[in-house]
Amino acid sequence: MQETSKRHLCKGKTIGFVPTMGVLHAGHLSLIKRAKSENDIVVVSIFVNPLQFGPGEDFGRYPRDVENDMEKLRAADADILLLPEDKNLYPDGFASHITVEGISDRLCGAFRPGHFTGVVTVVCKLFNIVKPTRAYFGQKDFQQTVVINRLAVDLNMDIEVVTCQTVRESDGLAMSSRNAYLSAGERAAANVLYKALSRASEMIKAGACGPEEVKNKLTALLGEGPLVSDIQYAGIYDPETLVELDEFRQQNLVAAAIKIGGTRLIDNVLASGKAGRG
Ligand code: PAJ
Repeated sequence: MQETSKRHLCKGKTIGFVPTMGVLHAGHLSLIKRAKSENDIVVVSIFVNPLQFGPGEDFGRYPRDVENDMEKLRAADADILLLPEDKNLYPDGFASHITVEGISDRLCGAFRPGHFTGVVTVVCKLFNIVKPTRAYFGQKDFQQTVVINRLAVDLNMDIEVVTCQTVRESDGLAMSSRNAYLSAGERAAANVLYKALSRASEMIKAGACGPEEVKNKLTALLGEGPLVSDIQYAGIYDPETLVELDEFRQQNLVAAAIKIGGTRLIDNVLASGKAGRG
C-alpha cells in the first residue's frame, strides 16, 4: 500500500482516505462519495481494530461482512480497499501507542477508557500507510473528529481532515453498524435519541436561558423513552474542547450516549446559540 500510494503521489495525484470498520452503510458511502469528488484516488480501509475495544465490549461480536462490503465499494467506484489483518498492524513486539490528552477523556472517553488511544493509534498507522492528502470522518462520531483533528495538528501531519454530515434513517436514527444489534422493538424505540437532541437544539435556537435548562429537558426526554436502559451522558458542550457549557457559545454541541436494551448508541447535533445571532 505504501508503494502504491507513493506511486500515485509521485504522479501528482491526490489520495482521499476513508477508514472504516466495515459493514458499510449509507453513512460510510457518503464519505466515499465526498472523497471521490475531491481526490484522484480513493482508498477505503476495513479493519475492526481490537485496540479500540475495551474488555467486555463487543469486539468479538462486532458485525463483519467483507464480501458484501466489496460489492458496495465496487458500486461506489472506490479505487483501493486496504484490508489488513490484526497480525499485520499489531505484530509481536508492537509497543507504541498515541494518546491525545484531555479531549480523549471526556464524553465517550469517560465511559470507554483507552478507546481513543486505540482509535488514534490505528488512524495514525493507517495515515502512515496510505499517505492520504485528505481523510474523511463522520460527524456522528463527533469526539473522534475532534481527537483526529488534534492529532493531525499536533503531530504536523500534512493531511486535511474533513468532517462529513451524519447520514440518518428516515426516522432520524443515525446510521451505524451497531444498529444491527437492535431488536425490532428496540429499533422503533431508538429514534428517541435524535428526537431529543433535535428538541434540545431547537430550544437553543429559540433562545433558551442557558445550557442547564436544555440539558434538563434533554435528559427528561431521553429518560421517558421506552427501552432506554441507561443515559451515559447528555448535555451541551463546547465543540472544540468538549467541556460541558454553563453558557451558550456561538456553536454548541448537543450530544448524548444512551443504551437501548444492551446496545450503546451515540449521536449529536450542532446548534447556534444566542451569541451566534449577535
Ligand atoms: P466506523 O464506525 O466503521 O466508521 C467509519 C467512519 O464512518 C467514521 O468516520 C464514522 O464517523 C463514519 N460514520 C459512521 N456512521 C455514519 C453516519 N451515519 N453518517 C456519516 N458518517 C458516519 O469510526 C470508526 O469506524 C473507527 O473508529 C475508525 C475511524 C475506522 C478507526 O478504527
